[in-house]
Amino acid sequence: MYRLLGAAILSTIAFASLLTAAEAPSYYRDVRPILQRNCQGCHQPSLKSSGLDVTTFADFARGGRRGAAFVAGKAADSVVLKYVKGELQPTMPMGAAALPKEQIESIAAWIASGAKDDTPAEAADTISADHPPVYSQPPVIGALAFSPDGQTLAVAGYREILLHKADGSGLVRRLVGQSERLNGLAYTADGKTLVAAGGSPARFGEIQVWDMPAGTLRKSITLTNDTVFGGSVTADGKTIAVGATDNSVRIVDAASGKELQKIGNHENWVLATVFGVDGKRVVSVGKDRAAKLSDVASGGFLENVNLLRGELSAIARKPGKDLVVIGGEERIPYIYMMDRPKVMKIADDTTLVRKLPRQDGVIAALAWSGGAKERIAVAGLASVVNVYDAETGGLIAACSGHKAGVYAVAFSPAGDRLAAAGFDGHVRIYKAESCELVKDFVPVPLMVSRQ
Ligand code: HEC
Repeated sequence: MYRLLGAAILSTIAFASLLTAAEAPSYYRDVRPILQRNCQGCHQPSLKSSGLDVTTFADFARGGRRGAAFVAGKAADSVVLKYVKGELQPTMPMGAAALPKEQIESIAAWIASGAKDDTPAEAADTISADHPPVYSQPPVIGALAFSPDGQTLAVAGYREILLHKADGSGLVRRLVGQSERLNGLAYTADGKTLVAAGGSPARFGEIQVWDMPAGTLRKSITLTNDTVFGGSVTADGKTIAVGATDNSVRIVDAASGKELQKIGNHENWVLATVFGVDGKRVVSVGKDRAAKLSDVASGGFLENVNLLRGELSAIARKPGKDLVVIGGEERIPYIYMMDRPKVMKIADDTTLVRKLPRQDGVIAALAWSGGAKERIAVAGLASVVNVYDAETGGLIAACSGHKAGVYAVAFSPAGDRLAAAGFDGHVRIYKAESCELVKDFVPVPLMVSRQ
């Protein structure tokens, strides 16, 4: 008995001194990032699988159906360790590869050393659906999307999506999630699903799948250790594509959240994606200046759509047709066919349909309207949004009013309205044919200053 106890004490001392030799395990530095990256998709305030929320220390400590997730000082008795080690089934993270040994050891060491909460006060997460973000100034807006029925305009805020009446006359609902920033919003054709892509820089990337119009989170899929970009969804809503900072395009199954393909054809960050009409192919653009066409089912590379010029950050597809407009650093929007009319021996520009005029600033967002009068909206750092006739390339109107860069543009489904937003945090709605400003509003409730 004594002997056993002595051995246990000795090994604990040995363990502890080893740790101080390196660095004491920290919840905030070591454990929280593992939970954010691998677990919060299914264990967060709006998706508490088995009653467990791991997004704050207090919630993690409280645990789920099986009680406290950990017992300070007793790693082996802790429910969370039993799950990540597979001693309790299903092994966590569910449906994914087991955590690497070092990460399991990291969690174990933190519990063994007393499971202290060292979250800095200013970093404590106080945001949830019941406590939505509080704003003292309008946030930078990185994405906008009209619902297919034309009733709602979804606006990406900080840690949330704000659903507004499409004419800007009122805030309808706030969809609070984990990602600090969302750079992509896309509705499925039936309007029943809203897909958002983004993340928290240097921590995790996330795809959120929301049931609409209820506004309940159906899935949160965390992937990569950094923000993901340019989320797009097939018309049937089954498949989602995002670009990543590891130079890949990720293809994800919307129903299960499983990653179907990791396409590695790019040589730099992938910033925007769009599916072809039938959803079988995807075009991606990024910092490597390439627009690449890939096969969704196999992940195989099909062809380079463009001749390399400047870094690319935006893409939009013509509604119902496999034509895309791309743009970025070079400031010139190029319209390309996704299909080559003839076999290509060397890189050429036979797929180029038309160039639009050079913009006054780097292009950050593009939109292509449907309807009788097809329009292409080009937005970027120049702050004026130009609207062109997609057939002739002629300038229709120039929408002004933004104080700085515009990062998101969207046409209403009928094509008669254009919404734009960006750095100054205002959403501006224009008549698409004249750029007459119809509505200018701040999409978030602002804190009233106490004066
Ligand atoms: C894809 C979704 C998903 C992911 C990702 C996931 N979990 Fe789970 N987790 C579940 C589900 C579902 C259950 C309930 C399993 C059951 O009881 O059959 C569960 C149960 C648990 C429980 C038991 C909670 C209780 O008290 O009942 C713990 C602890 C846990 N998960 C920890 C983790 C950790 C740690 C990670 C990340 C390393 C993780 N989970 C990732 C879905 C997930």
